[in-house]
Parts: sequence; structure tokens; C-alpha cells
Amino acid sequence: MSHPATYAKLVIQTLTGDFRSSTGVTSATWQAPGRGQVVIRNRYAGCNAIFDKNLCRNTVRYVDVKPPFDMGIESVGHVVAVGEGVAGLTEGDAIATSKLGTGYREYQVADVSRVIKVREASPQILALIPSGISAMVGLERIGEVRSGDIVAVSAAAGGLGHFVVQIAKLAGCHVIAITSDDTKAQALRQLGADRVVNYRQEILADVLTNEYPKGLDVAYDSVGGPIFDTFVDHLAMRGRLVVSGHTSDFDKEVEFVPHPRVYRKLYWKSASIRGFQNQAFPEFFAEAADRILDLHYRGRLQAWVDPTPFKGLVQVADASEHLLAGRNQGKVVIAL
Ligand SMILES: NC(=O)c1ccc[n+]([C@@H]2O[C@H](COP(=O)([O-])OP(=O)(O)OC[C@H]3O[C@@H](n4cnc5c(N)ncnc54)[C@H](OP(=O)(O)O)[C@@H]3O)[C@@H](O)[C@H]2O)c1
Repeated sequence: MSHPATYAKLVIQTLTGDFRSSTGVTSATWQAPGRGQVVIRNRYAGCNAIFDKNLCRNTVRYVDVKPPFDMGIESVGHVVAVGEGVAGLTEGDAIATSKLGTGYREYQVADVSRVIKVREASPQILALIPSGISAMVGLERIGEVRSGDIVAVSAAAGGLGHFVVQIAKLAGCHVIAITSDDTKAQALRQLGADRVVNYRQEILADVLTNEYPKGLDVAYDSVGGPIFDTFVDHLAMRGRLVVSGHTSDFDKEVEFVPHPRVYRKLYWKSASIRGFQNQAFPEFFAEAADRILDLHYRGRLQAWVDPTPFKGLVQVADASEHLLAGRNQGKVVIAL
């Protein structure tokens, strides 16, 4: 297959703290695949606006960003060149990958050990890997969800959240889905959520006090702030709160809030607050990927792709700002 001598990629050029002003599109030289490698033409990349902005602030704890720094994590695409010693992959195969530095670029060289062969290089498959996987691992392994549990999910219509809602429903749970928007609320009802709370119209704490007096068995939170506080206050006996992000204040000054020490809220309930950052749990990912793809292929799991179109590396900043403004429903995707 013919290939270009050079291609485009997005890099952090300077650390300004802001995505748009930190990044720029540059040229990379085509590299042939080595032994055990393939070259992939990336077709769609997933927007991880919060992680990306943290990179531009150099506040990702396990990465030290030194410009020029390659950006982007997950992508789907097609194999365009196969190295020696590669079995089971040929040119044209659809592939999903998820590795920092490989997403926001037109081509990538990948070790076969870290590619997932998929049925098609579609935006829906991109939404599943890794957001669906993170949802599954976070809910099952960290939240230890069980059939019959009452599960609350914040940012429930988001790229991660809509998978948490569905996986909890498939597990036989009662699901409370939280959002800030009526259109998203309507979609969440159609997705199967049992109770949808638009927190701009209802007070979440009142809903939980009045309708769920026994509390939440699992609360899956990626918003933080007052939603997190409300979840802590409403955990059931042996309830588990999964901290999966804090979108509402990740780039703000640390807020000090006057509360009793947290053990006073947890001890008598034997409740717990558990951090979940997918990077820390690689051992669960292969199995979860198989199951999440199987559920999707069998029509049991919808993958929502936000309808706002973004095309080309020059629009990654637009995609990022769209997500940070909370305007998305489902995974924000950039076509490459
Ligand atoms: N634990 C992990 O390993 C892991 C993996 C991937 C992502 N994450 C985290 O999970 C969260 C969700 O990521 P995502 O990419 O799927 O994003 P997303 O949920 O698709 O988008 C963000 C959503 O957050 C909600 N939101 C609440 N407060 C907001 C605020 N102040 N500003 C903007 N949006 C606000 C909005 O939905 P509503 O209008 O419905 O409130 C918005 O659509 C992020 O915090 C991310 O860092 C964690």
C-alpha cells in the first residue's frame, strides 16, 4: 500500500495551561513497522478534554510533559502496513488502540500486543474503547456492583456516564441518572434509567432523602463538588462511592469546605470512598474489552457519539472546548 512521506500530528508546543494555545499541528516522518508492529491510519480519535487540559497544565501525576509532546489517547483506524512476525493481522483490518501519544495523529506505529481487532473503525467502537471499558471496570471492580443495588451516576449522559448507566442496568440495578439538561434527561430515560435528576431543576439531596431513604449502594461520580458531597451524605450501609473524576473543578483552585471529618460519615455505615483512575488497573482491561465489545455486537449496549461533528486535527481544540462547556451527549469524536 502506498503511503505519504510525512503526516500530521498534534503536539503540545508550550505549556500555557490552556489546550488551544498550548498545542499545534506539526509534521511527522512516516516510519515503517518494525518486527511485531503494524502501522495504522487513524480514522477517528476520542476527545479527552479534561485529561488533555491537565497535560497542558502538566498536572497529570504520572506524566512529566516536556514539549514537543505527542497528544491523544484512543483512536480507531485501519492497518496499512504489517511488520515481520505479525500473525493474524493484514492490511485493511479495523483496529482500536488506546495509548497516550497515539490518538491525535494521522498514522501511528503500534506493537501488535496493544491493538484490539474490531469489526469496524467506527465512532461507536471508539466510544467503547476505552470509555466503556473504564465504566465497566470502575463499576464492577471498584464499585463492586451487585444485582438489586441502587446506583447513582453523575454526568450520566457523558462519554463515560452513559456506559455506567447501561452496565448497571444490565447488572440488574436501579439506576439514578444525573444530568444538567432536559434533552439529555429525555435520552437517559429512553436508555433505561429508572430515575433521572436534572440538578438544575431538582435538588439532588431532596430527591435522595425523599425517594431513597436507605441510601445509595453505589455512587459513581465524575463531577465532584456538591454532587460528590451529596453522594457521601447519602451512602447506604456498606455503600461504595467511586471517585472517577471531578469535572466541575479539576482546573480550579482547591476548595476547602467545612465538613466533619469524613470518617464520621463512613464508619457507622461501613461505607467507603474509592478512587478509580483506569491507568492503575491494567490487569482488568483485556477481559473488559472482550465483554464490552461482545455486548455491543449483540445489540445489548448502545454507544452514544455526540452529534456535533469535528474534522481534522485543527478541530481538536474546538472539540475540547465543546466538552468542557458540558454541551456534549455521549463521546466527543474527531474524524481524522
Ligand atoms: N476514572 C477514569 O479512569 C476515567 C476515564 C475516563 C474519563 N474519566 C473522567 O470522567 C469524566 C467524564 O469524562 P468524559 O470524557 O466522559 O466527559 P463527559 O462526561 O462526556 O463530559 C463532561 C460532562 O460533565 C458534566 N459536567 C458536570 N459539571 C460540569 C462542569 N462544571 N463543566 C462541564 N461539564 C460538567 C456535563 O454533563 P451534564 O450536563 O449532564 O452534567 C458534561 O457533558 C471526566 O472527569 C474524566 O476526567 C475518568
